[in-house]
Amino acid sequence: MGLALPLAGLVAAQDDPRRKARPQPNDRLVFARGDRQGQPIMLADLPAGGPLLTAYPMDPTAKVVRDDSRLNQILLVRLDPSRLNGDTRERAADGVVAYSAVCTHTGCDTWDWQPESSTIKCPCHFSEFDLKESARVMNGPAPRRLPALPLKVVDGALAVAGGFVGRPGFEAGG
Ligand code: FES
Repeated sequence: MGLALPLAGLVAAQDDPRRKARPQPNDRLVFARGDRQGQPIMLADLPAGGPLLTAYPMDPTAKVVRDDSRLNQILLVRLDPSRLNGDTRERAADGVVAYSAVCTHTGCDTWDWQPESSTIKCPCHFSEFDLKESARVMNGPAPRRLPALPLKVVDGALAVAGGFVGRPGFEAGG
C-alpha cells in the first residue's frame, strides 16, 4: 500500500492530457534538454545572434511541462529585431523568435544554425528556412514554412503569447 499511491500518482502524471496539449497563452518556456532541462528559459539565456535553443511549453500554474508530444518542441533564437519582417517582429519578444522544431518535410527535429543568414538547415534532406521571415522555405523539399509561436516576456522569462500559427508536424501523419 505504501508503494501503491506513488505509483498511481506516476501513472496519472504520465497520462496527464496537459502534457500533450499544444502551447497555450501564458505558458512558460523551459529547457527541453541539457543540465537545465525543465527549468524556465530567461531572456538572458538567449544571446543575440544564437545559438538555437530547444524548449517545451509549461503550464505556469500546475508546472506541467507539455513534453508528451514531440510536436510541442519549440526552436528559439534571438535575432536583431531590425532584421525581422513585420509579422515576425510582431510575434517576437525582444528579438527572440519561436517556431515549431519539427521539419515540415518528414519530421526531423535537429537543425543546423546558420548565423550569418539567420537561417536553419535540416540535415535530413537539406531544407532551409529563414527565421527572419516567418520561417519561409528557402531551399529543399519542405512543402511549407515552420509554424511560428508568438512570444512575450513575463518577469524576465519567455512565455507564450498565442498558439502556433499553422499546424506543427509534417504531411505524412505528423
Ligand atoms: S525532414 Fe527536413 S528536409 Fe526532410
